[in-house]
Parts: sequence; structure tokens; C-alpha cells
Amino acid sequence: MQPRGDAKVRAVRIVDLDRDMSDVIPTGMTPDSEFLFQKMTDVTLDRARPGPGKRILDVASGVGQDSLALAARGAIVVGAEPSRRMTQMARLFAADKIKAGAVEPDWVQGWADRLPFATGSFDGVICKGAIDHFDQPEQAIAEMARVCARDGCVVLAIANFESLACRVGRAVDDLRLEIGLPPVRERRGYDAPSDHFTRYELPLMREQAEAHLVVESVEGISLGWGMPGWSKTMARLPAGIARGAIQAFDGVAGLAPTLSDVIVLVGRPRRSASTSR
Ligand SMILES: C[S@@+](CC[C@H](N)C(=O)[O-])C[C@H]1O[C@@H](n2cnc3c(N)ncnc32)[C@H](O)[C@@H]1O
Repeated sequence: MQPRGDAKVRAVRIVDLDRDMSDVIPTGMTPDSEFLFQKMTDVTLDRARPGPGKRILDVASGVGQDSLALAARGAIVVGAEPSRRMTQMARLFAADKIKAGAVEPDWVQGWADRLPFATGSFDGVICKGAIDHFDQPEQAIAEMARVCARDGCVVLAIANFESLACRVGRAVDDLRLEIGLPPVRERRGYDAPSDHFTRYELPLMREQAEAHLVVESVEGISLGWGMPGWSKTMARLPAGIARGAIQAFDGVAGLAPTLSDVIVLVGRPRRSASTSR
């Protein structure tokens, strides 16, 4: 229906803010999943260089586990998250740790593309596993660069949809379709899920990041995650052998980030000459 006369049309943001993490954190972790999620977290947090007195912003902080981990390393942390539901869960998860002496991060409601902070407010900004959920990811990177101090760093951890696993998965399904078989899984892991706005791969990440950041490093993490049969094989192998194989593959991911499952990109803000901070 067309609006009448001077009736105002309110823009509605089509982002699911009622979601929880049940579709993100796999139930029944296999060794390869455990490795991937742990290393992705460790590298992201380390690259933000947390430490006593460091001001760190966790963009799209979700249920807040990374904000808490950064605070545990002495940083002064703000978790920014548009979803009230997520923030309520973060407060709930934090409650026990706080009873045990942990410092609670500040939870702030805010969209990544309009961060409610002054220019240069933080020494480090992290955004983990979230930018592909943003409807305006480039504006979000611009904002992360803006709120980061000139000599600070922005850390983006993103799933790579042109990983080796995605390429193999797609090739196997193409072959199966040609011979009249259905795809290996109903939900094709190499297609971006319905709650993603962007299907990232290394060249796109670089292009978007370089507009606002001077890229200092690009690291590949884990190789093979989601490849047909990979998780089952890793779960069946003796633990030590599985661990060795996963680490060896991770070593290859380090050498060839373009094939890795997750990419962690670190950059410092690209400031125009007129920006003071
Ligand atoms: C997959 S979760 C990742 C959460 C957390 N960073 C982690 O690693 O567990 C994606 C998060 O992005 C948030 N989100 C979606 N669109 C957003 C936007 N435009 N700005 C900021 N956060 C957004 C969601 O509410 C959700 O908490």
C-alpha cells in the first residue's frame, strides 16, 4: 500500500536481533571444531594486545565471552551489541564470574556502523565472527577505524567461504548432482547461511579493510573444517593423531590464508591528514 499524503515511512532494519548462539556454537564439539573455535578466539584476543589499562572495544560482543576474557587480562573493555537479548545473556553469563572476582565489561547497546564512541577512544577494537552478519559492513569497518586510536589496532576475524573445505565441498556436490545424487548435506556449508549479508573471501576482506585500515597482517586459521567426512574422521581417530593432523593442516592454513577456514586481519586506522586523533 502506498503511504498517503505526508505520512512518514519508517525504515525497518531487517536484522535478526532475537537470535541466540545455538546455531553458531556447535553442540557436540568434534576435535576440529574445538581447535578452530579456540584458536580463532586466542588469535583474535592476542592480536588486540590486551593488558592492564588498555581500552578495548568488542564490536558485536554477542554473549560477551570475549569481552570477559579481555577484561580478565586487565583491559578496560566495552562490549557493543545491538541485540538486547544477547546483552541480557552476556550479563547472565558474566554474573558468576563477577561473583568470583572478575571485572565486568561495560555493555553498550549499539550498531557497528554507528558506534556511539568518540574518535580514537580505544587502543584496540575486535570484531569476531560477526561482520558477515552486518547489513553495512564497510561502514562498520570505517567506524571501527574511527573509534580506534591512531596507533591502535582493529582485529577482524571472519569465516572464509572460499576455503579449501568450501571448494572441496562444492566440487563434491557438483559431481554428485551430475550423477543424480543429492548434495552431501542439506545445508551446504560453502553457501553463506541465511543470517549472513556478505559471503567473505580474502580478496573481499582485504578490499573492504584497506579502504579504512593499513593492513598489518593476515593470518589463516585451520584447514578442512566442514569438508565432507573431515569432522567424522577426526572424531574417530585416536586423539593424538587427530590433534597432529589438525595442527599440520592449520600450519598449511598459516602459509595459505586464502584456503583457511577463518581469516584474522589486523590493521591500524588509515587517518586522513585532517583527523587529529
Ligand atoms: C555470530 S554472533 C558473534 C558474536 C561474538 N562476536 C562471538 O564471537 O561470539 C554475531 C553478532 O552480530 C550482531 N550483529 C548483527 N548485526 C549487527 C550490526 N549491524 N552491528 C553490530 N552487531 C550486529 C548480532 O546481534 C550477534 O550478536
